[in-house]
Formats: sequence, C-alpha cells, structure tokens
Amino acid sequence: MNSSSTSLLHAIAGIWHYNAEEITPLLTVRGDSMKILGLIASPRRLGNCEIIVSEMLRSLPDTFEKEMIRLPALEINDCKACYACLPSEKDCIIKDDLDFLLERIKQADCIIIASPCYFLGAHTSIKKICDRLISILNNASEFTGKKCVTVIIYGVPGWEGYAREMLMSFSRFLHLDHQGDLLIQAANPGESATDVTLDKAIVLAQRLLCTSHQEQSSTDLQLCPQCGSSLWQISHHGVLRCPLCDGKHRYSPEGMSEHGSLLESIKERYIANRHELMQTRKLYEQRDWWLEPKRQE
Ligand SMILES: Cc1cc2nc3c(=O)[nH]c(=O)nc-3n(C[C@H](O)[C@H](O)[C@H](O)COP(=O)(O)O)c2cc1C
Repeated sequence: MNSSSTSLLHAIAGIWHYNAEEITPLLTVRGDSMKILGLIASPRRLGNCEIIVSEMLRSLPDTFEKEMIRLPALEINDCKACYACLPSEKDCIIKDDLDFLLERIKQADCIIIASPCYFLGAHTSIKKICDRLISILNNASEFTGKKCVTVIIYGVPGWEGYAREMLMSFSRFLHLDHQGDLLIQAANPGESATDVTLDKAIVLAQRLLCTSHQEQSSTDLQLCPQCGSSLWQISHHGVLRCPLCDGKHRYSPEGMSEHGSLLESIKERYIANRHELMQTRKLYEQRDWWLEPKRQE
C-alpha cells in the first residue's frame, strides 16, 4: 500500500472509529474506469446536496466518468395505481423521464444519492420515483450490485426525522448495494462546505470503491440488523419491530420478487371480483361532497 493510501486509511479509521487494520481490505479499488452517477434530490441550485455530491465526485479518481442528475428537474409523474405494470415483465405505461433515470442508473457502476430533509422526510422527488418502481420489482438483476451511498442534509438539529430511512429505502428498492450513509446538518445553501463535513463526505465516497459489502452508517444509533433502519416500533409488551422491513429480507432481490408475486395475486383477485367490487364502489358514487378549486378557462 502506498503512502497516500495509508493516510486515507487512517483518515477513514479516524472518522468511522475503526482500527485502520480492520478496514484495510475495504481499500481494494474496484477498477480505474468506472461510471459514477450523482443523484441530487434538491431543487436548490448550488445548494448543499449539490455541493456535497460534487465534492464526492471530485474526490474520486479523474479516470472515472462522472455525471449528475437533478431529480426535481425531471418530469416524473405520479403512479396512477393502475397496476398495468404487473405481471412483472410489463413496463410502466406512463412515459416520462423515469425511463431516462433508470437507464442512467443501469449504466452507472456506482451511485451517490443526496436529498435535503423536507418536513422530516426526503424530498418529494424521491417518493415520486419510489412509487413508480413496482414495474421493476422483478427486474433486480439490472441494478443489483451497484455500489451506492446516501446523504441527507437537514437544516435544524433534531429535525432529521425519517429522511435517512426514506433515502435508504429508495436505494434498496432499486436493489443497489448500499455501502453507507451520512447525515449532515446545514441549513443555508453553502453551509455544508466546511472542512470537517467535506472530509466525511469524501470518506463516504471512498466506500464506493470497496469490493466487498460492508455497510456502515455514520449514525451511532442502534440500527435494524436486517435493513439498517433506525426507526423502531415498541409494542405494549416491549417487543421491538422494524416498520421498514418487519425483520424480513424485504429489500433483497428475492424479497422484492416475492412482493411482486404477491401484488400480482392481488391484481388477479381484483380481476376475478371486479364486478362485485364495482357494485360496492358504486354505492359511494352519489356522495356529492367534493370541492375543487375554480380554474381560469
Ligand atoms: C420545504 C422545506 C422543508 C424543510 N424541512 C426540514 C425538516 O423537516 N427538517 C430539517 O432539519 N430541515 C428542513 N429543511 C431545511 C433543509 O433540509 C436545509 O435547508 C437543507 O440544507 C437543504 O438542502 P439543499 O441546500 O441541498 O436544498 C426544510 C427546507 C425546506 C425548503
């Protein structure tokens, strides 16, 4: 190992509180020509997400191909709940920028995803994309194994909410190999660009180069051993439950494929019972309490 690798190793060890020797195998670089995609879920130009992703990309070798996409700038329409994308070999019938995004992710070797925390969750562009992913539940192989790291920027201490988990779910729904995450507190655009924060972001970027799967979080919270979530539910009997994965392999390609099959069976049940269901639904047709805003012609 050369001297720059050694100092990087010690920097990583310091920030992640690990012995340098423990993480030596992580520094095996995967190759010198890789495509790295940065997804920025902030509408703010030159905002914190953009700065952090940009610095992470810059820190990676110049031989790598680097691209960034601003998710809120894409035209991603709402899922219409039509289930036309099931069974799994069918595509989503909505034609918009989702295809462009998924194609770019397929072509990338590694993905960095950054979102601001908005009202305790990740940005709405993340949710809109997640809602459209039913069509790829059974197509895990196209995304599986791509290394990914996630970054949440939140403005107010203690207001980070469930944004971290939402972004991690997004990466897991895409079957990406989530290697680590970072929570950064920075309110105004540019405030994330401190030496300490940028160092942490750069160390996180290095995790994209690891050959093995060794997910690490920057939080010191007790995480779900299955999915890495810090969100817990406690029953009246004191039993802990993870509401994201329910303690199961939900996010694995097999788990997602199982879910795809379950949705297919629900669709079949609908087709079998649709006339009966329509009779029930019709009972609600006469209710006339709807309000709609007046629009200019
Ligand atoms: C609509 C909106 C909602 C926000 N909600 C939260 C929040 O719930 N918790 C928090 O800590 N910060 C919140 N913030 C602050 C942003 O997370 C913070 O400004 C962040 O730096 C934005 O990142 P950006 O510059 O990349 O857009 C909110 C900001 C906006 C505009």
